[in-house]
Amino acid sequence: MQIKEFYRHMDDYVGKEVTIQGWIKQSRISKNVGFLIVNDGSFFKPVQVVASSDMDNYREVAHIPNGSSIEVQGKLVATPQAKQAFEIQASSIRLLDACSLDYPLQNKRQSFEFLRDHPSLRSRTNTFMAVFRLRSELAYAIHDFFHKEGFTYVHTPIITASDAEGAGEMFQTTTLDLDHIPKTEEGEVDYGEDFFGREVNLTVSGQLEVEPFIMSHRNVYTFGPTFRAEKSNTTRHAAEFWMIEPELAFADNAMTMDNAEAMVKSVINHVMEALPEEMDFFNQWIDKGLIDRLNQVRHSSFARMTYTEAIEILEKANDRFDYKVKWGSDIQTEHERYLTEEVVHGPLFVTDYPKEIKSFYMKQNDDGKTVACFDMLVPGIGELIGGSERETDPDKLTALMNEKGMGTEGYEWYINLRRFGGCVHGGYGLGFERLVMYLSGMGNIRDVLPYPRTVGSL
Ligand code: 4AD
Ligand code: MG
Repeated sequence: MQIKEFYRHMDDYVGKEVTIQGWIKQSRISKNVGFLIVNDGSFFKPVQVVASSDMDNYREVAHIPNGSSIEVQGKLVATPQAKQAFEIQASSIRLLDACSLDYPLQNKRQSFEFLRDHPSLRSRTNTFMAVFRLRSELAYAIHDFFHKEGFTYVHTPIITASDAEGAGEMFQTTTLDLDHIPKTEEGEVDYGEDFFGREVNLTVSGQLEVEPFIMSHRNVYTFGPTFRAEKSNTTRHAAEFWMIEPELAFADNAMTMDNAEAMVKSVINHVMEALPEEMDFFNQWIDKGLIDRLNQVRHSSFARMTYTEAIEILEKANDRFDYKVKWGSDIQTEHERYLTEEVVHGPLFVTDYPKEIKSFYMKQNDDGKTVACFDMLVPGIGELIGGSERETDPDKLTALMNEKGMGTEGYEWYINLRRFGGCVHGGYGLGFERLVMYLSGMGNIRDVLPYPRTVGSL
């Protein structure tokens, strides 16, 4: 039996004999009676187990250390006058495995920094129990949204030869012996000797590989691990993270944004409904005001402005920024936060950035300067989603790739999609960890990844 069942369907269990297995979180033991707080992992809240000195092994039970696993049999009893709605009056408590006394998670509150050194243990604390359940539920909510909208899930490769963002921030993958690198006659690395016979890397985005599937399956998405060798040591960048990348056929930039907005609202609705205990916990302990804010977000329509309009607003506030902006500059996190937190007070789409600061595949606007793209910015985080309409003209695409200095070698198949029955289409990438941060109020990406990998740390 699972504790979650007792909470969700208490009336079915009151007065009945129940059995649980779980771990002791805390205990208060006196001469005649003991209270054990036990969690079995099935639910955010633990259950109180009452042990009485009538039990044969009461003395042994009284000495079981916190963190030990036990099996409890007893009667589930309603306790309407107490804080918790019910408790288990134990008839038997059996020690399954004792927790050693050098267990690092003692009862005092541990800092997130301390807990980062114990990734194998920290998921047992309230905060991380809530974070990782939210992570799981959000992944489900995302699949559920796209499934209901008729999207097909495509598994794009992790090992690839392309640089989907054209930014060169890739982890190279090789089986060459780095102590004895084979060289060609010209003295260059001989990738002919490497596993794939060519240079390959871990994917920075599944976009290029998912795009062809719109022409067979219409609306598609990929959701998988993504790797970036960016040397950004911030609270929002990880070297290994998960990304959701939908791609929509017959959709322009505005329609693509509509989908992104509907998706974010849908997953907020889902977790508020599915995880009320965890969301209350975040609201109380991690980010006061979280629930009000999310309620406002799911019932509002997201603001939209062009990059040019955003720059006009930011230029008036340049005094307060470390990086002063002007038309043509990239928008940094401090600017993104100013726009969302102090100008629009909520999520914001900024559209039509200069083509110089965006990726090669974005649809070039008629002004010759900007591309039909968007970033969805949210308070507290900055960029949550980046997306665009895609360039459908093979000549314009080729010209921009050359202009950006990346060339077209190895991307012929991608350019050719524009010649083999292409269509207006758009897509976006949602950083999954940033979504978990946004919906929990957690401030550091290292604390929403089960095993964070960031520059200099694994
Ligand atoms: O804006 P980005 O680089 O867009 C793309 O990769 C496109 N190919 C997406 C597409 O159109 N299919 O990345 C998308 C999102 C960002 O908005 C951010 O949320 C997240 O991925 N992201 C990161 N999250 C954590 N750590 C990093 N190093 C990240 N880099 C990007
Ligand atoms: Mg981006």
